[in-house]
Amino acid sequence: MFAKLCIFFLIAITTMVVGVPLEESTKNGTLISKRTTTPVCKDHNYSELVNSWCATKSSMTVICANKDLPGTFTSDTIQCNGAEVCVDYFLTENNAQAQCASSYIKWDNKNNLISCSGTASYGRGEALDISVGATTYDVDGNPIQVDQFAIYLNNQEIAATSNLHNVSTILRSYKSNEDGDFGSCFSFSGTARVTSYFAAFGAAA
Ligand SMILES: *[C@@H]1O[C@H](CO)[C@@H](O)[C@H](O)[C@H]1NC(C)=O
Ligand SMILES: *[C@@H]1O[C@H](CO)[C@@H](O)[C@H](O)[C@H]1NC(C)=O
Ligand SMILES: *[C@@H]1O[C@H](CO)[C@@H](O)[C@H](O)[C@H]1NC(C)=O
Repeated sequence: MFAKLCIFFLIAITTMVVGVPLEESTKNGTLISKRTTTPVCKDHNYSELVNSWCATKSSMTVICANKDLPGTFTSDTIQCNGAEVCVDYFLTENNAQAQCASSYIKWDNKNNLISCSGTASYGRGEALDISVGATTYDVDGNPIQVDQFAIYLNNQEIAATSNLHNVSTILRSYKSNEDGDFGSCFSFSGTARVTSYFAAFGAAA
């Protein structure tokens, strides 16, 4: 089903350089950096983070719950700092979150139907519960839907979405020396310029 992407990806990885440097903190949600902006609930009456997603390339929407009044929620917008970019990912298998990432792989479609990232591995061979995600934006920094979006590990597709602006999956006990490098590709049949950002995060248990 992703034959085209796979073939392109195989070509791409042989020609591209490794993407991001490693940052070693592996607490949940903070594999990428200790200092990046995380989703938070600022209203003390609504202090429980439910979920979050990228509203724009530089901001995320957070949904927060009131612990004392079950079923009551509020939403807020958190701005990323400076050069950070918002990336959607799964914190657990059924908990979608967003985070402003300071370390990421960036690539764009340059009017190609299919475009792929460079590749990267994370950690130094120790077992990590790692979440990888990618989000696409248009030239104005708004999320833009792509036709197909996939993440690869060692050339094998490990996640794919259709007609969405994001893709993410979790790998438990990932070991960089055994499992290999991550990469991502998307296909986009429109004429817009699309830029994608891929990042890795610590997954929660
Ligand atoms: C928010 O919490 C404060 C106390 O911390 C309380 O006085 C106030 O009424 C609460 N507001 C709402 C809308 O519940
Ligand atoms: C991706 O986008 C969809 C649709 O907007 C959303 O439901 C989902 O939570 C997002 N995040 C991830 C990690 O897929
Ligand atoms: C993330 O880790 C902290 C401790 O480092 C923990 O208190 C918190 O509950 C974790 N968050 C989730 C969503 O698992």
